[in-house]
Amino acid sequence: MSPIIFLAILLLILTLLWSTILPRADQKASKNSGGKLPPGPRPLPIIGNLHQLTSLPHRGLQSLAKKYGPIMSLRLGQVPAVVVSSPEAAELFLKTYDTVFASRPRVQASEYMSYGSKGMAFSEYGPYWRNVRKLCILQLLSASKIESFAAMRRSEVGELVKSLRRSAAAREVVDVSRKVGELIADMACVMILGVDLEDKYHLKELVHVGLCLTGNFNLADYVPFLAPLDLQGYTRRMKKVGKDLDKVLEKIIMEHEQRAREQQGRYDHKDFVDVLLSLMNQPMNPQDQHIYIIDRTNIKAIVLDMVVAAFDTSAAAIQWTLSELLKSPRVMKNLQEELERVIGMDRLVEEKDLEKLDYLDMVVKESFRLHPVAPLLVPRESIEDVTIEGHFIVKKSRIIVNTWTIGRDPNVWSENVEEFYPERFIDNNVVDLRGHDFRLLPFGSGRRGCPGISLGLVNTRFVLAQLVHCFSWELPSGVETKDLDMTEMFGLSMGRANHLLAKPTYRLLD
Ligand code: HEM
Repeated sequence: MSPIIFLAILLLILTLLWSTILPRADQKASKNSGGKLPPGPRPLPIIGNLHQLTSLPHRGLQSLAKKYGPIMSLRLGQVPAVVVSSPEAAELFLKTYDTVFASRPRVQASEYMSYGSKGMAFSEYGPYWRNVRKLCILQLLSASKIESFAAMRRSEVGELVKSLRRSAAAREVVDVSRKVGELIADMACVMILGVDLEDKYHLKELVHVGLCLTGNFNLADYVPFLAPLDLQGYTRRMKKVGKDLDKVLEKIIMEHEQRAREQQGRYDHKDFVDVLLSLMNQPMNPQDQHIYIIDRTNIKAIVLDMVVAAFDTSAAAIQWTLSELLKSPRVMKNLQEELERVIGMDRLVEEKDLEKLDYLDMVVKESFRLHPVAPLLVPRESIEDVTIEGHFIVKKSRIIVNTWTIGRDPNVWSENVEEFYPERFIDNNVVDLRGHDFRLLPFGSGRRGCPGISLGLVNTRFVLAQLVHCFSWELPSGVETKDLDMTEMFGLSMGRANHLLAKPTYRLLD
């Protein structure tokens, strides 16, 4: 028997004994505190409830929540976890007790693919995270920064319209997923990296694989003693993706440094990477009482976080919405009528038109309800022991908010919950999607809520409005609307498993 297999069996037996004989830390702490753990299915030794997550965990967790309720306790390997599945419970975790749940767990994905959590999304709650968040909002995600890139978005989306017009003239079927993915990646590259990056498609591919790996339930994060065996092969893949990403980022930074040397500050358009480089070896936020000096690794980690967050999210949202519109000719017609009424048939949509497009707003909300891009948000971790409504939650518990389940709960949305029906938001204008209404949380809520919400929304609404205004869309011949494949591909951001293909026909007057 090979030494590795022998060691694995020995560890297995020891853990089995350990997990059946010794009481679990959370159970012990819950006894001491007088509270009870939330209800949940019985965990197996070693893996706990990991086997119940299925390949689409949001769906597996929905079935479990039906049985055990909206605050459910799970054991993911050795990690205690709480799954939140109702608006009321989400409000408790993301608002009432926001500070207790504002941290993120340390996971292999961020260790290997985000420079040991030196970016924003996976850094632990505290002064470093606060400083990075402030910096990114100020230098990239503020209303004025987003507005300053309006002309770039107009031009990039205009180019896509031109290319689709050519396909329409040739009566071609278009790979909508690829086109939209490239557009969003291009726009993000210009904003963040300042360039139409030569090998951005390689970067895009790497980011996509990285996001899928981050979303997966990695045994090594939950059963640490099995980590060296890398049974799922994720660690090896993450290390490889991390190295490849680093090469691309180094190249980008070196190009920026070279340009700065050549031009010696004579160019005035600084992109996000330029701004970060100009802060190198200086305090991130001199006003803050905690001083963090930015080095090269911090810069790479922060840039990477922004790229990762920007690439797949809006693109997935646009693809899901177009898919639903293709399945629902009634809603497509209503939306085109609104665009015709507000904009007319003789010009393209402008960003300033968006605020007048109420039906579009409802369509986007409805799409986020059925297809939240991050169905389980980004995992949180509790900072201290806490008892909520009689449920004891031990420090360092993993908190999973299942927004996908909330979006499909008939008690929240009425019986036609599976139907794509934007009109449900007509009398419901109070349902905002910025994290104030816990029925609809596509961008999360509270301290760790998405800081890129305004950019994400303007990208999603603008591209959708343009595509639906300029073109009529048909499915490829032989595919009926009812047969349009809507299979999901689970990851930190959940897109379509298969590309959306459709045939455009130009509909504006020349
Ligand atoms: C439609 C587009 C987008 C959607 C649906 C989306 C959704 C989300 C969600 C659900 C979270 C987790 C929130 C939580 O834990 O409560 C999040 C976090 C985050 N998002 Fe977005 N996002 C989008 C676009 C963007 C963009 C364009 C950026 C920046 C370029 C961005 C940057 C981030 C960052 C950095 C975090 C982590 C925040 C933290 O941990 O403090 N997002 N996003």
